[in-house]
Amino acid sequence: MKKLFAIPQLVLAAGFVFAGSPVQADEIKGSAAAANGKVWLCVGCHSIPEYRADYPLVYKVPMIGGQNAAYLASALAAYKKGERKHPTMRAIAGSLSDQDMADLGEYYAAQTATSPKNPLK
Ligand code: HEC
Repeated sequence: MKKLFAIPQLVLAAGFVFAGSPVQADEIKGSAAAANGKVWLCVGCHSIPEYRADYPLVYKVPMIGGQNAAYLASALAAYKKGERKHPTMRAIAGSLSDQDMADLGEYYAAQTATSPKNPLK
């Protein structure tokens, strides 16, 4: 539970101000810096040009760098809820909290489609 209290401080410390981004119903603010410890779950598939996952089908992995943060977070929520069906993404999103999704959305929004895997390093 301590982690919950650390998050707003981290957002403030990082100086992230997301002016103009749509206010989410639950008021969760994402932090690209906070996502730094979470993207290891994603970099094996996303942000690799032309990468295709081979399970359950040979499938082109979407380039999510540069996408809108709120869109990315809501796509992840849709996998978690089962509204989107891709089995691997459902399994991954199922392990994410709303805060994780918001953070990952900001992280990928801050990249471009061709950014290196981890521009914050
Ligand atoms: C095993 C490979 C794999 C991993 C690991 C993975 N993804 Fe995905 N992701 C995919 C594939 C394939 C799709 C397309 C699925 C579909 O069509 O629904 C996808 C779709 C998405 C989408 C929807 C994109 C869109 O344009 O609608 C988002 C957002 C996303 N992934 C984020 C993530 C995040 C964040 C992580 C890490 C927490 C992650 N993914 C980990 C393979 C992966």
